[in-house]
Amino acid sequence: MSAVHAPARFLTFEGIDGAGKSSQIAGACSWLEARGLALIQTREPGGTPLGEQLRTLLLHEAMHIDTEAMLMFAARREHLAQRILPALAEGCWVVSDRFSDATYAYQVGGRGLAADKFARLEAWVHPGFQPDLTFLFDLDPAIAAARVAGTGSAPDRFEREQRDFFERVRAAYLARAAADPERFCVIDASASPGDISARITATLAERFFA
Ligand code: TYD
Repeated sequence: MSAVHAPARFLTFEGIDGAGKSSQIAGACSWLEARGLALIQTREPGGTPLGEQLRTLLLHEAMHIDTEAMLMFAARREHLAQRILPALAEGCWVVSDRFSDATYAYQVGGRGLAADKFARLEAWVHPGFQPDLTFLFDLDPAIAAARVAGTGSAPDRFEREQRDFFERVRAAYLARAAADPERFCVIDASASPGDISARITATLAERFFA
């Protein structure tokens, strides 16, 4: 099948907490693997042993906003060096639960980090490099909050934020998507899981296997 020889791609999934991307990531990976592609599934913050330690700090320790942004990018630098770039170089697709769009949405949009600080960190850590395709799960924060509460697990430092924080995160995600419509596929995350999955696989098929 010619599709197997498609060049390796870097795909990311984004959205506010509770938007429902986790199960869809698993489904997208299964769909790609069924086409005979090698892939790794990973996440941010995290994806490496050091990155996972930074994740624990980021999700549970109070810290200055600049520290938070720099630790997100420190974890990302390690992730790129240890996993993302080597995998792509070997022809292995990479599917990541979040990448730099999350820093733009949460730290710039949510927390109010200066956009130029974000831009400098992004230009330092991955100049000229972006995901090939980003699925943005867009959802009303009120619905997302109900979903997070329904999981019953203890909320982390981000999940404990108020509705207005997630309104700002959502708006920043949508602004970033509007600035790069070729890269982003915005998904209405209030749709049924079946409809979302169909939209994702149709987009993958059209973008990479047509
Ligand atoms: P996520 O893995 O989606 O959380 P969960 O395991 O609870 O589904 O992401 C962890 C949190 O980190 C999430 O609230 C968003 C936040 N985050 C940022 O604030 N900035 C970033 O750059 C990244 C990658 C994540």
